Amino acid sequence: MQGFGGRVAFITGGGSGVGLGLAKVFSAAGANVVLADVRRDALEQAIQWFHQRGAPAHAIQLDVTDRRAMAAAADETERVFGPVTLLFNNAGVSVFGPLERASYDDHDWMMSVNYGGVVNGIQTFVPRMIATRARAHIVNTASVAAFRGTSMAGIYCASKFAVRGLSEALRDALAPYEIGVSILCPANVNTNIAHSVLTRPGHLGGYEVSQTMKEALEILYAKGMDPIVLAEHVKAAVERNDLYIIPFPEERQNLSRYFERVLQAIPPDSSDLEGAAARRRAMTDYIRTRDGLALKQRES
Ligand code: NAI
Repeated sequence: MQGFGGRVAFITGGGSGVGLGLAKVFSAAGANVVLADVRRDALEQAIQWFHQRGAPAHAIQLDVTDRRAMAAAADETERVFGPVTLLFNNAGVSVFGPLERASYDDHDWMMSVNYGGVVNGIQTFVPRMIATRARAHIVNTASVAAFRGTSMAGIYCASKFAVRGLSEALRDALAPYEIGVSILCPANVNTNIAHSVLTRPGHLGGYEVSQTMKEALEILYAKGMDPIVLAEHVKAAVERNDLYIIPFPEERQNLSRYFERVLQAIPPDSSDLEGAAARRRAMTDYIRTRDGLALKQRES
């Protein structure tokens, strides 16, 4: 996608960190930005930056797990700026703890925000994007944790694996509509994610986050990439319609070790590569034809 002037960008988690960085960079490139965030205080502070510059921006308090509220936010965005053609499903939370001592609440919260929020963003905006027939682009924020499971961040990793899988499939599904999909996989970024627990709903319990843990995480994230620098990488990647956005050279070795381990599980010298590829093609054709028929039957 080239040229962001006048486009409408909807950014979840836009009140802080990566989301706010994206808002600033795409605003500077001419987009009208909507910051959607569950934290009113973060939104009020963030929106000042745009108002001071006379940049078109609008803040909406939104919990991405609330499907009705997401639809209402889409309606509000259309009333204020028009249809969304840049969607950033970015809101996310992270609380660390031993996986074997996780509660259902830990699973429910992290999965519903990190994965459920992306699902709700897609379900809400994709039909609208298809209806407007304009070129559009979606960036879903996963993480480098989408490639490896670690026990202290087990649920977070699972949520990000899910975002990655869904996004790869979505890219395929939306290509015919000229809607691009990219997967943002940051490593360490200098944001407020160490304070995630502040947004955990009151009715959900879960991992205790001690002051010591919070301070250690603050120090760790403070060493991370500047969100503006990350957002500039995202802008370039959207222009090129890249599938993956992982502008962290230090991750190359980790990922190559990871994929090497996966490849080692596969016996060498598959005798029938062409046959396997043909079977995969036949299966895809079958599903497409069958779905096409089902659609026609429903329409008639
Ligand atoms: P952040 O905490 O600075 O920003 C996240 C924003 O999401 C916050 O303003 C928060 O209020 C909002 N949020 C949380 N729950 C929400 C909900 N239910 N509905 C709407 N908004 C909600 O953290 P950061 O780092 O900017 O996080 C953005 C994304 O980047 C997340 O998906 C995170 O998993 C991902 N990420 C961050 C990394 C880092 O090192 N900071 C590394 C890898 C991925």
